Amino acid sequence: MVQQRIPEEIIEEIKARLDIVQVIGEALPLQKKGKNYHGLCPFHSEKTPSFSVNQEKQFYYCFGCGAAGNIINFMMNYHGQTFLEVISGLADRAGVVLPQREETEEEKAKRKHRERLREVNELAGKYFHYLLKESDVGRLALEYLNKRGLTVETINKFNLGYAPNNWDSLIKVATKRGFSEKELLQAGLVISRERGSGYYDRFRNRVMFPIYNPSGRVIGFGGRVLDDSHPKYLNTPETPIFNKKNNLYALNWSGQEMKSKDQGIVVEGYMDVIVAQQYGIENIVATLGTAFTREQAQLIARYTSNVVIAYDSDVAGQAATLRGMEILRDAGCRVNVMQLPHGCDPDDYLRKYGKQKFISYFNNEAVSLVEYKLKHAIDKYGLSSISGKAKIVQALIGDLERVESAVEKEHYIGVIASRLEISETAVKQELERISVTRSNNKIEDKNVKNRYTNQRVKSKDEGIMPARKQAEQQLFWLMLEDQQIMNTVEAELGDDFFTDKTVCDLYNKAKQLQKERDKISPSVLMDRCTENEELELLGKLFAKDIDSLSNVKQLVKDYTNILKQSKKQERIRQLQKELHEAETTGNQTKTIVLLTKIQQLVSSD
Ligand code: CTP
Ligand code: MN
Repeated sequence: MVQQRIPEEIIEEIKARLDIVQVIGEALPLQKKGKNYHGLCPFHSEKTPSFSVNQEKQFYYCFGCGAAGNIINFMMNYHGQTFLEVISGLADRAGVVLPQREETEEEKAKRKHRERLREVNELAGKYFHYLLKESDVGRLALEYLNKRGLTVETINKFNLGYAPNNWDSLIKVATKRGFSEKELLQAGLVISRERGSGYYDRFRNRVMFPIYNPSGRVIGFGGRVLDDSHPKYLNTPETPIFNKKNNLYALNWSGQEMKSKDQGIVVEGYMDVIVAQQYGIENIVATLGTAFTREQAQLIARYTSNVVIAYDSDVAGQAATLRGMEILRDAGCRVNVMQLPHGCDPDDYLRKYGKQKFISYFNNEAVSLVEYKLKHAIDKYGLSSISGKAKIVQALIGDLERVESAVEKEHYIGVIASRLEISETAVKQELERISVTRSNNKIEDKNVKNRYTNQRVKSKDEGIMPARKQAEQQLFWLMLEDQQIMNTVEAELGDDFFTDKTVCDLYNKAKQLQKERDKISPSVLMDRCTENEELELLGKLFAKDIDSLSNVKQLVKDYTNILKQSKKQERIRQLQKELHEAETTGNQTKTIVLLTKIQQLVSSD
């Protein structure tokens, strides 16, 4: 991990003020077991908790997949944030003020440019809002929104607006305020003329929905026609500050509510969110008609891990729902889907039936991914033939296997069995058959990449490690745990005795750290890791408990001996090679010298 110019003392100050157990505990449930805390690993899919958090040493380690690190690594890997994002977030939380580092000229220019783009979007938002509320040209648009049931408060809250039916209204207003046409173009607010030079306003004669980023800045717009013409919506294209797949509409308003309710509702459209919020349902965001993305799932997961999808139930909506559910599940969320009556989106439903009915529909009709798939599989394969039922079970088995809670799994097995009128045993057997095939299929296991860190997910059984490597790792660990041991070993072996690259690199880092401070802190050492292998090894080593060893002295002796012996063997092999050369070239003197050396080595201990 690169330090990126933030002084290590500051990073340590931040870490010292925070507790890894608390921070990780906010992202996933942890249970205290002995000295450590345990939970289900968020970095690979599992049913039995193998993820452990060590409070004393402030690091985590997964016995299942090897994921390891300190609080910073966790935030980066779990939330997909950059190092700087993590540091600035944690600094805020810890109440540590970060020193301002000098920006490069390029960074400065880029930051200023992005700020200008937000400013011009904000200006456009104000202008459109003003036209909607205060001008004659906006009257029809205002009537349209009123007809759709929006109150003045709602229109104000969401800063809704109207883009007039001209080619250059916004261009004029914005250039008068000092924005260049190029800036307008880069903000996606105008379009280059195909013929000739110059630009024209992108949004004309449309109701405008400003899109905010999570910190409440306008970064783009959606614009809706006032009638049935096409396209119904126009949106800001990709710009340096706007990317649909990284954003969720209304997250700036609903984030807190999702957190406090520990539940988020995901809908498709602007109007769905706005109307729902007007009805007092405030833990709601929209994906804006795009396929749900991993980035969006991670955004939501920062606030809650309980998500309900409420998409239109047309065919496209169904496909989107399924994909969305799977993505959310893989991001560690518990997902349910609320299937609205056909052709009815949340906005329609709320206005037709009101909040109470919506909520009771929501509470009674929302189903899990497995149930949702069951229903669709039944529609597809039918219940009349045995082969159809077999196909239905096949279609569900993978999702069933992924259900982590045993209680829930049991429940779904019951649901499937009763819907298909087959025995629960049959479903269970199918499930077992699948997991046996999986576990026999080790190759698959090996190549699974962790979805957050891209680290290879390892199977628990690492195979047999060569004795030498094993000894190096163990000895290195004991040296880290106890300064006295480090001294003893170094006195015995010198300082060049590790051959395993990861151990070697870590040892050098540890020595450097020791030179700078008195103590080698696991968490600081982790900050200096540059490779995943290093983090994983440290996690594995520090996860052991030195107090549980009965005879540390003897162990150190044994491992030291193994290293000594293996170093000796290496030396002997080297000399034997030279001996062979000396013999073939007929170099008598050298042959004798080498033989003596080898004999001496073999007879020494
Ligand atoms: N959308 C879009 N471009 C389109 C159609 C839709 O970007 N041509 C996005 C919009 O964000 C829209 C969402 O997809 O809000 C859902 O589309 P749709 O269900 O068609 O619209 P509604 O939000 O229901 O809009 P309305 O109720 O005003 O018809
Ligand atoms: Mn609608």
